[in-house]
Amino acid sequence: MERTTRPAGTRTKRRAARLRIRAATRRDAATICALIRGLADYEKLSHEVEASIARIRQHGFGPRRYFETLLCFDGPHAVGFALYFFTYSTFLARPTLYLEDLFVVPEVRGRGAGKALLAALARVAVRRGCGRMEWAVLDWNAPAIGFYERLGARLRKDWILTRLTGSPLRRLSRAR
Ligand SMILES: CC(C)(COP(=O)(O)OP(=O)(O)OC[C@H]1O[C@@H](n2cnc3c(N)ncnc32)[C@H](O)[C@@H]1OP(=O)(O)O)[C@@H](O)C(=O)NCCC(=O)NCCS
Repeated sequence: MERTTRPAGTRTKRRAARLRIRAATRRDAATICALIRGLADYEKLSHEVEASIARIRQHGFGPRRYFETLLCFDGPHAVGFALYFFTYSTFLARPTLYLEDLFVVPEVRGRGAGKALLAALARVAVRRGCGRMEWAVLDWNAPAIGFYERLGARLRKDWILTRLTGSPLRRLSRAR
């Protein structure tokens, strides 16, 4: 019996045809905030969200810009986002594109929006001379881990995310 095969990604490409990606502007601050809340809800971390539209506008689109954002649209609807900024790899002596948030609304998942957002980010990384893209994923988030590995990313379990925040941060800031 003859076996018909379809090249990987063909179906996603067809379904992604209606999707459009563009850089966010300051008018998109409320949309970004809503997508951040969507991601936090998915990650069961809504109680940690302190984000406000005003601070997103200030830090993303003010005089000192801390991050950049790509939005994915299906027609007029924002259906996903990738929020990123640049760190620096001293070993490579090149910038690193650090992906802080990636999220696609549940109704649109599996239609190529996530891959299209990451591909657009990879183009930004290459254009800006980055040696790497990097991000963290929660250990229970098997669907996202599967998605990342399929794109060729590797999990680095030997590195432990280390965070100083809240009162320990303030205490250290007062130490001599
Ligand atoms: C993870 C997420 C961004 C992926 O976006 P998506 O739009 O659903 O994924 P896509 O449709 O672009 O999938 C792209 C490719 O990955 C594959 N893929 C998707 N999920 C997968 C999985 N769980 N395991 C293996 N492959 C997977 C698809 O089959 C597709 O392959 P193809 O190009 O060969 O057709 C999205 O599902 C999401 O927002 N999840 C909830 C939030 C989240 O987990 N964010 C990441 C936090 S670190």
